[in-house]
Amino acid sequence: MAHAVEIRNLHKSFGALQVLKGIDFTVDPGQVVCVIGPSGSGKSTLLRCVNLLEEPTSGQVVVDGVELTHRDVDIDAARRRVGMVFQQFNLFPHMTALENVMIAQRRVLKRGRAEAERIAVENLEKVGVADKRDSYPAQLSGGQQQRVAIARALAMSPALMLFDEPTSALDPELVGDVLTVMRKLAEEGMTMLVVTHEMAFARDVADRVVFMDGGVIVEDGPAEQVIGAPRHERTKSFLRRVLDPTHTDV
Ligand SMILES: Nc1ncnc2c1ncn2[C@@H]1O[C@H](COP(=O)(O)OP(=O)(O)O)[C@@H](O)[C@H]1O
Ligand SMILES: [Mg+2]
Repeated sequence: MAHAVEIRNLHKSFGALQVLKGIDFTVDPGQVVCVIGPSGSGKSTLLRCVNLLEEPTSGQVVVDGVELTHRDVDIDAARRRVGMVFQQFNLFPHMTALENVMIAQRRVLKRGRAEAERIAVENLEKVGVADKRDSYPAQLSGGQQQRVAIARALAMSPALMLFDEPTSALDPELVGDVLTVMRKLAEEGMTMLVVTHEMAFARDVADRVVFMDGGVIVEDGPAEQVIGAPRHERTKSFLRRVLDPTHTDV
């Protein structure tokens, strides 16, 4: 079976700073892979290379059979296959939830108004905020805004969803609602690559966990093994720090 995502020997530098130093991994269709690791290890850069928000310095990124790093690729078409959810929700403040979920469908996919609205409502329902369709972002909680952002990404019918610390900007009591939505997506078979510090989510929902440190993958394995019985000292010490609430310097 073809991989949903295949990353081969990916390097990314910013000037003299080498951030990704040869990343290799794959995600199979329907798999959930969580990426964990300390701040500055290159997790966001990796995700941004997967949808070409950053141009890799070298190496290959293949999504759904299309090599995004090929020089002849239609970048806009390729990017449409990948949904991204950021820590900051990035909703348009002057648009309602419904309009936020419709705009890219209309502008990028050229869907008609009625179809875009139907798909928007479907996805707002899926994430549990259909009753907020006419609210503006400022009238929504962080958790509701993030769920609208997830609906916006889903409305584009992506082959793959990327999440970059989707719950890190949320008040603790709102984290669960967003994780519940992500868990449901995973159960429905969405292919997901998730950067997160939520170790319980990673352990319970991910098929695989990838631990990154210093621009390399230190450990990649089944979630219960990497989190429950890590093999490498760097993974162990990272997990000790994130699982011990008195250490917040991760
Ligand atoms: N656009 C950029 N220009 C220069 N340096 C960057 C840029 N983006 C990220 N970096 C640097 O790359 C390193 C990895 O960052 P990042 O991928 O955000 O790590 P993480 O998400 O794991 O915290 C950091 O040292 C960061 O400062
Ligand atoms: Mg990051």
